[in-house]
Amino acid sequence: MKAIRGATTVNVDCAEEIKESVKELLGEIKALNKLKNEEIICIMFSNTADIKSYYPAKAARECGFSFAPFYSSAEPEIDGSLKKCIRVMVLSDSDNPPKPVYLKGAAVLRRDLTELFNIALDGPAGSGKSTISKLIAEKLNILYLDTGAMYRACALKCLQNNISVNDEKAVNRIVSNLILTVKHENGVQKTCLDGKDVSEEIRKPEISMLASTVSALGCVRTKMVEIQRDIAKNTSCILDGRDIGTNVLPDAKYKFFLTASPEVRARRRAEENTQKGFNTPYEEVLADVIKRDRQDATRKIAPLRQAADAVLIDSSSMTVNEVVDFILNKIQEKI
Ligand code: DC
Repeated sequence: MKAIRGATTVNVDCAEEIKESVKELLGEIKALNKLKNEEIICIMFSNTADIKSYYPAKAARECGFSFAPFYSSAEPEIDGSLKKCIRVMVLSDSDNPPKPVYLKGAAVLRRDLTELFNIALDGPAGSGKSTISKLIAEKLNILYLDTGAMYRACALKCLQNNISVNDEKAVNRIVSNLILTVKHENGVQKTCLDGKDVSEEIRKPEISMLASTVSALGCVRTKMVEIQRDIAKNTSCILDGRDIGTNVLPDAKYKFFLTASPEVRARRRAEENTQKGFNTPYEEVLADVIKRDRQDATRKIAPLRQAADAVLIDSSSMTVNEVVDFILNKIQEKI
């Protein structure tokens, strides 16, 4: 069972406005959550004590939601609480993750949903950035941009053209004509090179080191950072990478630096590789992780580094859910 939350406000405590606002709120919840009537188990309302002229539940029945059981209650009068606010909780048995809806003045209750904001999540290889970012993006209903995938695509392009990732001149020629696009389908990033989806190909272990080397080149970084900033400018999103908090989005509202011991990261990466069908021995993965960290952290341009204002998370002995909850709590604290 899923609980979908929402709220709205009215300017004037009158039946007409309450009916309109309830209709709009439930309509938005249904549309955003792609809810079918038969998936709605029940709808519960509460309203601030300054709403006296009409029951939100009655309004819901009158605007076509009579198929569901309702419950409606008034909240106690609390100093400083929002004025003329109607809150709702829709219980459903839909499989989709619940997407809350906060309209009109009630939007201030959930600034995370209504304000444009960016989250920077940096860290070394295998620290779990992509797993965590995907979950955070899903919970907050925002976009996830995997910036490492872009450097990987660049490396793949060099490989396809038999160009050494150390040959800056040749790489520059490739980068100037690179057709690299990132699109999102059902929350999943598709990284496309010359119009072809290469999302799986770029995950091959041999691409990792090439991506690290090519990412040290100024011409590559300039192009990638431009695309990343362009995406982040218009969309609330979480970007994971090495230099997001320090260089790409130095003004990001929320910054985290996720790390774990090299051994833990190598073990996680090796397991991930096995799941994807690449059987790389643990020792080899560990050596690669250490070498890549050193290379990423010591390059001249935008090296892997924790931003001064980023929150450090060592996930060596934390579960995925613990890291996600920690980040969500930190975000809530700042809202
Ligand atoms: O996160 P990843 O393993 O997919 O990244 C591959 C390489 O890309 C990484 O070793 C360094 C580089 N990279 C970078 O320099 N800056 C970023 N923001 C993201 C990745």
